[in-house]
Amino acid sequence: MKMVKRIFIGFVVIIIVIQFIQPVRNTSGQVVPQSFIDTFQPNDTIVKLLANSCFHCHSNNTKYPWYTNIQPVGWLMAKHINDGKDELNFDDLAALSNRRRNSKFKSISEQIEQDKMPLKSYLFIHRNAALNEADKKLLINFFQSKIHNN
Ligand code: HEC
Repeated sequence: MKMVKRIFIGFVVIIIVIQFIQPVRNTSGQVVPQSFIDTFQPNDTIVKLLANSCFHCHSNNTKYPWYTNIQPVGWLMAKHINDGKDELNFDDLAALSNRRRNSKFKSISEQIEQDKMPLKSYLFIHRNAALNEADKKLLINFFQSKIHNN
């Protein structure tokens, strides 16, 4: 019994201690990636869909729900954001060469088409980030219309 109690107390102490190790926040203070909007002129519906489903992990500004203050949830979120931004950052798209933009737009369309994004593990907690068929179509049409060969 003593052993079980010790393990339990040890566990509680670890949980408490890790709460003090907060990951650095991905917040630029700018709510939407303005350069993306200015350059590619998405309409309000597209911006809303992207804000709801993509910008949290693919821009310089994440809106953090309260439970990301709890570790290790916050660490997991930070990892997703780092990995997500490595692949695609809506704040950087406008500055890319035409060739690289085209390839990002193709990749975005494919990820949406194949239901690979938003990440399944994210949708598990954020049901409202899910895209329905109509949303997917709108987004895919938008990104495909932005692919230019010049
Ligand atoms: C919870 C965080 C999260 C959300 C939300 C999210 N992504 Fe991602 N995304 C990632 C991560 C992490 C990766 C890195 C590769 C992987 O794990 O699949 C990624 C990779 C990508 C890639 C590159 C994939 C490749 O292999 O070339 C694209 C394109 C992409 N995401 C588009 C989107 C779009 C569009 C949305 C919204 C519909 C979205 N993502 C929502 C985290 C996210």
